[in-house]
Amino acid sequence: MRNESHDAGTTLDAEKLAALVMAELPEIAEIADPGLREKVVSAWVLALQSSSFKSIRELPPAGNPNVMVVKRGDQTDHIRGVTRLAIKLADDFMENYPELQINRDIVIAGGICHDIGKTWEFDPERRRKWELTPRIAGRPSVRHPAYGAHICLMAGLPEEVAHIAAAHSGEGELLLRSLENTIIHYADHTYWYVLLAGDMIVPESVPAKDRRE
Ligand SMILES: [Fe+2]
Repeated sequence: MRNESHDAGTTLDAEKLAALVMAELPEIAEIADPGLREKVVSAWVLALQSSSFKSIRELPPAGNPNVMVVKRGDQTDHIRGVTRLAIKLADDFMENYPELQINRDIVIAGGICHDIGKTWEFDPERRRKWELTPRIAGRPSVRHPAYGAHICLMAGLPEEVAHIAAAHSGEGELLLRSLENTIIHYADHTYWYVLLAGDMIVPESVPAKDRRE
C-alpha cells in the first residue's frame, strides 16, 4: 500500500530541491529543450537526495576531495564556470566552423552534470568510512565520473550527457570522447589550470605533478 503522506513529503522535498538547484545553477535555463532541462534538474535532485548534502553549495570548490581546492567559493562556482567556458567555446567554434556538429544543449547539460557524481565522492560520511576501511569498499568506492554517469542514466538523461559525466576526466583516456565531451574536458582543464596560474589554488592541495616550486 502506498504511503500517501510520505509520497507527498518526498514530492514537496523534490520540488523545493528543484527550485534550489535552478537558483544555484542558473545556466540550466540556457538549455533550449524543456525536457532536457527538466531531466538535468531531476538528476541534481536525485544526486542531492542520495547524499548527505542539502545544497550544491555545501560541496567544497575542489577537483577531487582536498585536491585543487580553490581559495574561495564552492562547487557551484566550478560547475558554472566550466559550463560558461564550454558555452563560449561551443559558440565560437559554431560561428567559425558551422560545419561542426556541436549540440549546444548537450554541451550545457554536460557542463552542468559533468561533476554531479561529486555528491558521492565528496560525501563526508562516505569519506570517513573509506578512510577507516579502505580495503573493504575502496578509497573511494566509486569515483565521481562513474557515479555521475549512474545518476545521469537513472534520471533519464541521454547517454550523451552520461558520457560527459563518465569520461570528462582521466577515465576519458580509455575511450573516444564525443565532440561535446571534448569541449567540456578542455573547459574543465582550463578552469583548474588558469586558477592555478593565477595563484588561486590552495598550495597544499596542488598535486605533486603540477607543483613548480
Ligand atoms: Fe569539473
